[in-house]
Amino acid sequence: MFETLSKAPGDKILALMGEYAADPRPTKIDLGVGVYKDEKGTTPIMSAVRKAEERILAAEKTKSYLGIAGNKGFGSAVLDLTLGDSVDRSRVRIAQAPGGTGSLWVLMQLINRARPGTTVWVSDPTWPNHNPIAENSGLAVATYPYFDPETRGVRFTEMLAALDQLGKDDVVLLHGCCHNPTGANLSAEQWDQVAASLARTGALPFIDLAYLGFGDGLEADAYGTRKVVSSVPEALVAFSGSKNFGLYRERIGAAILIARDAEQADITQSQLLNIIRGAYSQPPDHGAEIIRTILEDADLRTEWEAELNQMRTRMVHLREKLAETIRQRSNSEDFDFIADHRGMFSLLGLDSATVEHLKAANGVYMVGDSRINVAGIPEERVGDLADALLAANK
Ligand SMILES: Cc1ncc(COP(=O)(O)O)c(C=O)c1O
Repeated sequence: MFETLSKAPGDKILALMGEYAADPRPTKIDLGVGVYKDEKGTTPIMSAVRKAEERILAAEKTKSYLGIAGNKGFGSAVLDLTLGDSVDRSRVRIAQAPGGTGSLWVLMQLINRARPGTTVWVSDPTWPNHNPIAENSGLAVATYPYFDPETRGVRFTEMLAALDQLGKDDVVLLHGCCHNPTGANLSAEQWDQVAASLARTGALPFIDLAYLGFGDGLEADAYGTRKVVSSVPEALVAFSGSKNFGLYRERIGAAILIARDAEQADITQSQLLNIIRGAYSQPPDHGAEIIRTILEDADLRTEWEAELNQMRTRMVHLREKLAETIRQRSNSEDFDFIADHRGMFSLLGLDSATVEHLKAANGVYMVGDSRINVAGIPEERVGDLADALLAANK
């Protein structure tokens, strides 16, 4: 059987992690892997999460099956967090899924059931896993203009013009906030225009919300999602609790669907649950129960929000410090965009030879497309990093 197979390509980011681990230089800097890191370079368990886990351990009475849609308290808490009161809940359904990736997967399967082979439009560039998830679900993928390598901002006029050309059979995948890999995001006014375009064309918005709270705060980061879902009859949202709750390995996320009315919502949800049943039957509970416990308890929620805010402001501070240091040392504004970007990543716009050079000469590791994880910048090494980037960029 297996002799028919050839080796699948390895994951580039995992390979980079391996290279970094094998590098003996004590001065090496890891800006590659996409997990939050604190000032000690570790990915901590949030204290609200620890406390929730203690409570769960003490109170849990059964390990019986959870049900296909998952933890109900988690579901309604996540809807409050993401959608607020932007849309009438009678039109909304949610199913817990394994991570943002699992949520994207089951929703792509749903799209393919509704319209086999339809096209999902993704930003150029986008998170590299979007394409395989869509294609493995039977969908076609095309790109709309997004990142401007000159300004390192969004090519908004071109983006909007491309979205305006789409129709009812198209799906538009949008990053709800904290765009990965670029770090360049839409302003509130630009979200308004995107929402108006989607309402005009009838294309289906599909929002990937993997970094809620990592950009400008929980409410500000939800603006685009809420604006879009309140402007259109149908929408999809894939939520991830990996980053904002630091629950990466618990694999917790949610697939949210908004239908034109309650009856259509029930029918569509029945298909979504049927997809889940035929894939992994039911989701695991632990991550969902942690999130439910935190969001339903006033004290734990306050503690979580404070921790999340601390992570967010640390990333903004590192951005500002790196941009400011480069400005002072080069007398140029070439890297000011790092301070304007939001979320965990910035795409520096360096070519692959420069990325390789930074790794070989300076031990600075970043993804091959020149994406850096700003949370990986050691604060005391900002000056070294600034010098390395300036020397490589000459
Ligand atoms: C844009 C984007 N979407 C979705 C995910 C999925 O995250 P997870 O499956 O770990 O929850 C990620 C993770 O890196 C991401 O960057």
